[in-house]
Amino acid sequence: MREAGPGRDAPLAVRAVRGLRLTELGLGAAQLGNLYRNTSDAEAEATIDAAWEAGIRVFDTAPHYGLGLSERRLGAGLRERPRDHYVLSTKVGRLLEPSPERAHLQDDEGFVVPAAARRVRDYSRDGVLRSIEDSLARLGTDRIDIVYLHDPDEPEMFAQASSEGIGALIELREQGVVRAVGAGMNAAEPLAELIRRADVDLVMCAGRHSLLDHAATDELLPLAHDRGVGIVAAGVYNSGLLSRPRPDADARYDYLPAPQELLARTNRIADLCEEHGVTLPDAATQFPLANPAVVCAVVGVRGVDQVASLLTRYRTPIPDALWAALADAGLIPPSSPAKGSR
Ligand SMILES: NC(=O)c1ccc[n+]([C@@H]2O[C@H](COP(=O)([O-])OP(=O)(O)OC[C@H]3O[C@@H](n4cnc5c(N)ncnc54)[C@H](OP(=O)(O)O)[C@@H]3O)[C@@H](O)[C@H]2O)c1
Repeated sequence: MREAGPGRDAPLAVRAVRGLRLTELGLGAAQLGNLYRNTSDAEAEATIDAAWEAGIRVFDTAPHYGLGLSERRLGAGLRERPRDHYVLSTKVGRLLEPSPERAHLQDDEGFVVPAAARRVRDYSRDGVLRSIEDSLARLGTDRIDIVYLHDPDEPEMFAQASSEGIGALIELREQGVVRAVGAGMNAAEPLAELIRRADVDLVMCAGRHSLLDHAATDELLPLAHDRGVGIVAAGVYNSGLLSRPRPDADARYDYLPAPQELLARTNRIADLCEEHGVTLPDAATQFPLANPAVVCAVVGVRGVDQVASLLTRYRTPIPDALWAALADAGLIPPSSPAKGSR
């Protein structure tokens, strides 16, 4: 899948899957929906501009992120860009219904926005079609490239998403309305099940294929590779724990305060990174991309500085000896990353 090699000044490499060409890095726009803290319109715009200047051409959002704010900001930031030059993904499964009576409250799902809409979970055919229409309006575009079923975690949701929901998306793909379909989830096993059940193009695996979490290694990654389904690795910093050279004591893992055991393991990985002359985030940024099933790593950055450091992390050469030392210490699976795969 790889088309170009990395290097300190090299452009972002591109990987191809199912007719799409994705830059190895993508911008995750949950942060532009004010995840955890407020981000100004100006900072959101500057983040998108910096990502574009850096060569990033994959942009991921969802109605869930800031109750539509992320889609509106991303749409505005991309509006003047040539539409064929980037890949835009959003998600379905949460319809946004106006709730003006709650507008004086703050959203209670992690975003610093007024609770002026409520999320209604819906993976039905009608729900999928309506959600896409709403997203197109918020994004201010006439085309979305990839649509993911978003977080169908509960068994009933998964049953509907993996039959009616994915059926509706495949229909849209056949009509040429969208280019690729799949699902984005924080769990590896249901993504593997979806690949077994339906003709999906990509799945966004959030947090389960990272330097710290290898839940996708044994089943999802080889299955996707065998079937030619692209893995988009998201949450590669496990929502913050791997984002700094040393984890903060209050760092989050999977959106919650990280348990002590994970903090200790993260510090052991950071020790080995430093012994080999690189940082924890350097290794965390590159680890997912070393697996041949992975077509893109979508990272949640906000602000020009985080975009710049993301590119440095992506380009810093990582000695093979580090991967070997991590594997010897039992901190990453023995076979990963495949030597020379990046
Ligand atoms: N179910 C799904 O489909 C799903 C689930 C999760 C994520 N995603 C996608 O993946 C994207 C990223 O996932 P994520 O939000 O879980 O996060 P992540 O990429 O694992 O971590 C993002 C956090 O890392 C910190 N960070 C990033 N770059 C940094 C830098 N250069 N220096 C210091 N800190 C840095 C930021 O913290 P601060 O904000 O504190 O600065 C940011 O909030 C989302 O935006 C979304 O597009 C999809």
